[in-house]
Amino acid sequence: MRIDRTTLRAAFSRFLTGVTVVTTRTATGEPVGFTANSFSSVSLNPPMLLVCPGNHLSGFHAFRDATQFGVSILAEGQEAVSNLFASRAADRFANCDWEEADGMPLIAGRAAGFVCTTSSVVAAGDHIVLIGQVSHFDDAARPGLGYGPEGYFSQSKERKAEAAATRASVLLDDGARVYLTDQGQLPTVPVQRGESPLSVLEAGLIARQIRAELSVVYAIYDEGETCRHIVFRGRTKGLQPGLQAQDIVTLDTSQANNTAVRALLDRFRQEHRAQSFGLYVGDAHAGDVLPAQGRD
Ligand SMILES: Cc1cc2nc3c(=O)[nH]c(=O)nc-3n(C[C@H](O)[C@H](O)[C@H](O)COP(=O)(O)O)c2cc1C
Repeated sequence: MRIDRTTLRAAFSRFLTGVTVVTTRTATGEPVGFTANSFSSVSLNPPMLLVCPGNHLSGFHAFRDATQFGVSILAEGQEAVSNLFASRAADRFANCDWEEADGMPLIAGRAAGFVCTTSSVVAAGDHIVLIGQVSHFDDAARPGLGYGPEGYFSQSKERKAEAAATRASVLLDDGARVYLTDQGQLPTVPVQRGESPLSVLEAGLIARQIRAELSVVYAIYDEGETCRHIVFRGRTKGLQPGLQAQDIVTLDTSQANNTAVRALLDRFRQEHRAQSFGLYVGDAHAGDVLPAQGRD
């Protein structure tokens, strides 16, 4: 089998992970760090863990030669720190809050942190497996930041939003076209208290004979005091009953008679161009897009 790098990476990304920042110090004592989701716990007795730094990293030699390294498991809301340590920025530590444990830098506000003494370094293709014995750890018991094929996710935020949702919609696409109702709206169902928005939406689509595979949450927003929308992404193949296809690139969002849906479709068109999709949390007028970013 000929293995293509891009499709292999996509297959690996089906494994949902958390996000960590792995840190050490250079021979001259400068802190270095990078974002990694290749973290795994290894052993409880003795306590051991591993991470896999790639040979593309600017700090690769520092990690390969390190006798000590730190791992900060990022908490929900630390997407910006993840993006900072996945960027080419030279001054990463000047642009975030960090502290020291056993001489190693750890990111402030983390969900949990570890300092390790390197016990082995295994060469493995274009990465190394850095195995360390834990000499210090802390656990703030905050929910961790999640990472998957669509970018970051925040399980506890999404659960809370799901619990309060009163309407569930789906942004359906097939990779090239988006599928909207005749009124330029997203297919939407009402959700009663205590119901699972995802299950209600799935049932609603089946009732309308719309075939779709629902995936991640794309937006959560309040409209007025009492209406909370949750918008899932969904994949479909070909035209579905009651829906119209529109090319994503040339998508005319002006026909959507609702500002929130218009803003959502505008964002989708832009994010589709960059193939990097975020999660919007806010109200119908203003909010934050939790950014998504691909890995090495
Ligand atoms: C979520 C995520 C996970 C990543 N995991 C790893 C990893 O496990 N190993 C790795 O070498 N790079 C990983 N990267 C890429 C590095 O963070 C990125 O290439 C690095 O920071 C580039 O900066 P530098 O080469 O200047 O250090 C990941 C990036 C992201 C966004």
